[in-house]
Amino acid sequence: MAMSIADQIRRYWDADAATYDQMPSHRPTSAGEIAAWSSALARLLPAPPSRVLDCGAGTGFLSLIAARLGHKVTALDLSPGMLAKLHDRATAEGVGVEIVEGPADQPPPGPFDAVMERHLLWTLPDPVAALRAWRAVAPGGRLVVIESVRGDADRAEALKAKARALLGRARGRHADHHAPYSDALLAALPMGRSTSPSQVVETVSAAGWPDPWLERLHDVEWATAVGLPMPDRLLGVAPRFTVTAG
Ligand SMILES: C[S@@+](CC[C@H](N)C(=O)[O-])C[C@H]1O[C@@H](n2cnc3c(N)ncnc32)[C@H](O)[C@@H]1O
Repeated sequence: MAMSIADQIRRYWDADAATYDQMPSHRPTSAGEIAAWSSALARLLPAPPSRVLDCGAGTGFLSLIAARLGHKVTALDLSPGMLAKLHDRATAEGVGVEIVEGPADQPPPGPFDAVMERHLLWTLPDPVAALRAWRAVAPGGRLVVIESVRGDADRAEALKAKARALLGRARGRHADHHAPYSDALLAALPMGRSTSPSQVVETVSAAGWPDPWLERLHDVEWATAVGLPMPDRLLGVAPRFTVTAG
């Protein structure tokens, strides 16, 4: 019997968990970059302490920053492998994060003051359904979506991304993940091949979140790029942006 899309995705991330945190884009080590992410999240989330749901939390990138800022965080993810890493990191850092294993479109009841995600939307078969479910558990709350421009959404950026990948391979740098998603899986995901700011704003609106705002995360990009060697520095990093609503 063919494996369901959810099972394929869970299996992929359980396998990726072993090396996910070894990539600097997944777990920055520079003090400047960590501080830039902290100030972005401090500005985007409601004042602490608030109840925050992190969807597709993975190894805890956003969850741990939010917990350190004084929020009461619930981390939701499909992959027990990724959540085990989050648990270990939270324990090592001495911060409390509630961990819930499950699909993003069936969040725990909350209620939450904010729902956030980073780099989850592209891997959802129905992003609108998930965003609608998040609104139901955060009535009157805030949405904080953090994404990067991917694929052919911006031709100039697509060329730079190819150049970065070539340069990385020439230097013997590992790819960001243990494997790519299969073509069949990507074809089942509305944002599987590319993510653009307009597409994310439209998706957020379609799910019923009011008044979406779009901002580029210049400070995070800059803090990341200044640490790159030449000529990588000239190519910079993929544009990061946030869509907030509610
Ligand atoms: C690219 S990783 C991002 C992880 C984390 N947010 C970060 O910024 O490092 C995507 C995460 O989404 C999770 N995921 C994928 N599909 C999901 C779904 N339908 N429901 C919940 N989590 C899902 C994966 O297990 C993985 O941990």
